Amino acid sequence: MTLGSAFDRRSTQLPLDLVEAIEDMKRKKNAVILAHYYQDPDIQDIADVLGDSLALARAAQKTDADVIVFCGVLFMAETAKILNPRRRVFIPDLAAGCSLAEGCPADAFRAFRKSHPDHVAVTYINCSAEVKALSDIICTSSNAESIIRQIPADRPILFSPDKNLGKYIAGKTGREMLLWQGSCIVHEAFSQKTILDLKAGHPGAKLLAHPECEEPVLALADYIGSTTGILKYVLEHDDPAFIIATESNIIHQMKKAKPDTTFIALPSTADCNCNLCPHMALNTMEKVYLCLRDETPEIEMDENLRMSALKPLERMMEMSASVLAASAA
Ligand code: 13P
Ligand code: SF4
Repeated sequence: MTLGSAFDRRSTQLPLDLVEAIEDMKRKKNAVILAHYYQDPDIQDIADVLGDSLALARAAQKTDADVIVFCGVLFMAETAKILNPRRRVFIPDLAAGCSLAEGCPADAFRAFRKSHPDHVAVTYINCSAEVKALSDIICTSSNAESIIRQIPADRPILFSPDKNLGKYIAGKTGREMLLWQGSCIVHEAFSQKTILDLKAGHPGAKLLAHPECEEPVLALADYIGSTTGILKYVLEHDDPAFIIATESNIIHQMKKAKPDTTFIALPSTADCNCNLCPHMALNTMEKVYLCLRDETPEIEMDENLRMSALKPLERMMEMSASVLAASAA
């Protein structure tokens, strides 16, 4: 992949009203802003489409805008380019990586696959384009269970790179899977002790967790699901309080929908910001504006790599029709 020019080489003279300037630039360039729920609330508020990894991939695939500004992390912007190569795809900060993607280098993954040639490689979308190209099927947290259930029972499975999601799905489906030992720095920081302390202080509060959390945290959860799943659960339940075991920026949408409900962002220890993803946080409103204005940094990808990474993504889309239909409802 070729990287675009760096943020610090650009002029940083900014307009006073960034929201208006971004809207203006969007109209002029026929651009669409796709944003993940983990983005800063200001960015969520200017997004044309807000969603989880699967919904954003689908939105990127379907858009007829000329330009996609992907407010998320690099693997998400790369996925948009793979699925819709005719659009120009920009990301506000190219350094917005992901600990799961970084913990699964393509060479090591190739060797992992080679040593298990009879296995189907199901790979979480939180990985590089190179790792996607070496995989059979991609999945996200919202379709992983459904995809694993569709794999014939006699086919052994390699699941990468998130060991926590893999273990959770193995438990749900009863399928034994060989797991790559990766994890997310944000979700693995949550502790069972903090949850028990919080539950004692907020009796009756429901714990909603992302499957990237470790098993002891998931064991206490009242609901486990993707970011969209967690948000939907909140919208459909009238409990007075929820403890949220995922990146805490998602609470912005919850508070907008239910201003009188209490939402408690799970800390791993007191006084830390570790429930914020440091990679997602690299994207700011200033960088969204500059990236639209200067048309950089852009996602560019070798066509052979793109075509190889497209196959397992298309397989995912085919196998998750019912999940996509449910999330669109
Ligand atoms: P979702 O697909 O559930 O939004 O998860 C993305 C992610 O990076 C979680 O850390
Ligand atoms: Fe990656 Fe974790 Fe950040 Fe999600 S929250 S983008 S898995 S580092």
